[in-house]
Amino acid sequence: MASRYREVYRSWQNDPHAFWAEAATEIDWFSPWDRVFDAGAGIYGRWFPGATCNTCFNAVDRHAEGGRKDQPALIYDSPITGRKRTYTYGALKAEVSALAAVLQDLGVGRGDRVVIYMPMVPEAVFAMLACARIGAVHSVVFGGFAARELAARIDDAAPKAVISASCGLEPGRIVAYKPLLDEAIRLSAAKPQNCLILQREEQGCDLVEGRDHDYAALVAAARQEGRDVPCVPVLATDPLYILYTSGTTGRPKGVVRDNGGHMVRLKWSMFNEFGIRPGETFWAASDVGWVVGHSYIVYAPLLHGCTTVLFEGKPVGTPDAGTFWRVIAEHRVTALFTAPTAFRAIRTADPEAALLPQHDLSRFRTLFLAGERADPDTVKWAERTLGVPVIDHWWQTETGAPISQNPVGLGMLPVKYGSPGLPMPGYDVQVLDDAGHAVAAGKLGNVVVRLPLAPGSLPTLWNDDKRFEEAYLHEFPGYYKTADAGLIDADGYLFIMSRTDDIINVAGHRLSTGGMEEVVAEHPAVAECAVIGIADALKGQVPCGFVVLNGKAADIATIEKELIAMVRERIGPVAAFKRVVPVKRLPKTRSGKILRATMQKIADHEEWTMPATIDDPLILDEIAEALEKPKD
Ligand code: COA
Ligand code: AMP
Repeated sequence: MASRYREVYRSWQNDPHAFWAEAATEIDWFSPWDRVFDAGAGIYGRWFPGATCNTCFNAVDRHAEGGRKDQPALIYDSPITGRKRTYTYGALKAEVSALAAVLQDLGVGRGDRVVIYMPMVPEAVFAMLACARIGAVHSVVFGGFAARELAARIDDAAPKAVISASCGLEPGRIVAYKPLLDEAIRLSAAKPQNCLILQREEQGCDLVEGRDHDYAALVAAARQEGRDVPCVPVLATDPLYILYTSGTTGRPKGVVRDNGGHMVRLKWSMFNEFGIRPGETFWAASDVGWVVGHSYIVYAPLLHGCTTVLFEGKPVGTPDAGTFWRVIAEHRVTALFTAPTAFRAIRTADPEAALLPQHDLSRFRTLFLAGERADPDTVKWAERTLGVPVIDHWWQTETGAPISQNPVGLGMLPVKYGSPGLPMPGYDVQVLDDAGHAVAAGKLGNVVVRLPLAPGSLPTLWNDDKRFEEAYLHEFPGYYKTADAGLIDADGYLFIMSRTDDIINVAGHRLSTGGMEEVVAEHPAVAECAVIGIADALKGQVPCGFVVLNGKAADIATIEKELIAMVRERIGPVAAFKRVVPVKRLPKTRSGKILRATMQKIADHEEWTMPATIDDPLILDEIAEALEKPKD
């Protein structure tokens, strides 16, 4: 089939408002918009102002009431606990409605924030949808973050309530969430009045009297009373959620997602980009704490009337590298979406995919990879192993949906290895040099998107319009700065090569090296430090801390252990900070800027050129030597 991509992209270019108005007919609105797009509203304009709607209604109720009541909506598969549960759209509505009633009883209403700090259990999904139902704004915090990170998010969002669980489960260890939550609340100035705690069988926890409530008991009572909370109409431009993501400092950015544009964009993506039909099973093997989990575990598949899979496990070790194949076969998964690192892990554990043939993957059509650069070697291995198209696509927490892709539903274009495809409607992607001039095809530069952003992209940062403008809009007037470096080739394919800021991508997780430097610098023996991301065969990148010691403390082995523990304790295990390299001095420019990019090239054995502004070139030799030096 010839691809309709170019024709569809052109139709968006010719009349973006008509394009999105047409896409919006797939959503049930309570009342229509004043206009599709108001360029004068918000910072760069707002989509569907004046319209009222409810995201939970579109994701749950309209299916439960419209012929999908008995269709599975959510399949929970947890190899880590051995549990599986299926919720039909009817059952999902009952769970969400009861929880919405509990939240209302706790005083949560439209516009109030609710922080959700949960492992990969169905209640995390119910919590998000229950907030959406009553017009509350959820903010999910990934379970791998430590108390201080959670506290920073609680302080910024000032939630009326927190929904959490007694514990999460990682292979071989139970992560007690409740002490982390208690510590975060102790650290934060904005103390939530109520916490709803899910007690898990694997490990319970104590509840603080007057503040903590048992999730199961309150929900059961609400159900017994037959409480049915209707979906509250909200404005299309009202926030559905805040999702914090790493910025260039330790302070995370609160990405705001609206209700209306988000629904329109995600619903459009399910068929046109992912090639999925309502009723089919879609599995995003991510975590609800990340944007991929928000968009493609929860909202997009449910808005589309699909069955979604919530997987509590890892690609390897739960119990083995065949677990993905089992889930695909058992739940008749049509498409899987995961990060390349998951496939690198599977390939390392089972290079010949010996665990594959015992599973029936005949319904499986497409593998989607995102979250980090998909290296051609991994893509080709996945293609060979699965015998289906492997689609790399590029997006960010800020956009909530792919900026570029090879659109399966519109008809696939030829695959170019190393490229996450072509820009999707909504995104006019350009590559500019540092002075803001367009570069020629095939030339590397700053990847930017011409304003306005597509529906569903962030309209601003929570309570911080100024930071939104400074971080994304100031450097290239008229454009959104993605902070990715890349190129567009002569056929219009994008290649995303690296970040232009201090963000690194560790196993598909976005982390700030600036945030890690803030922690490392607090160690009394550290005079100066630089944390950079260095290449890693499994995780793509891992952080590495270069430290200049002030001679005040013990041996480097002790300092290294302490630094690793500090980063784990302050940021969380997800930072995967496990390497410290002592150096005499850090390479700097004459104006004192640390030359992190050159250090990274040296560490990754890439070609590098001597920066013209370097203060003392000899320091780069010292860095190379320090990296080669075996540990004492
Ligand atoms: N709660 C608590 N701790 C968590 C956690 C959570 N939700 N998620 C991860 N951690 C911990 C891990 O246990 C690990 O701790 P350790 O240092 O004690 O071993 C640490 O954080 C790092 O985790 P991770 O980066 O996931 O590495 P891993 O070695 O456990 O697993 C992979 C490696 C490749 C299997 C894993 O990273 C993976 O499946 N990645 C998929 C990426 C993904 O889902 N990306 C989302 C965007 S699509
Ligand atoms: P996050 O906000 O966590 O989704 O991370 C977004 C960042 O991950 C992007 O800015 C890119 O640097 C990187 N990224 C995501 N998807 C891809 C991809 N397909 N190819 C290359 N980089 C990607």
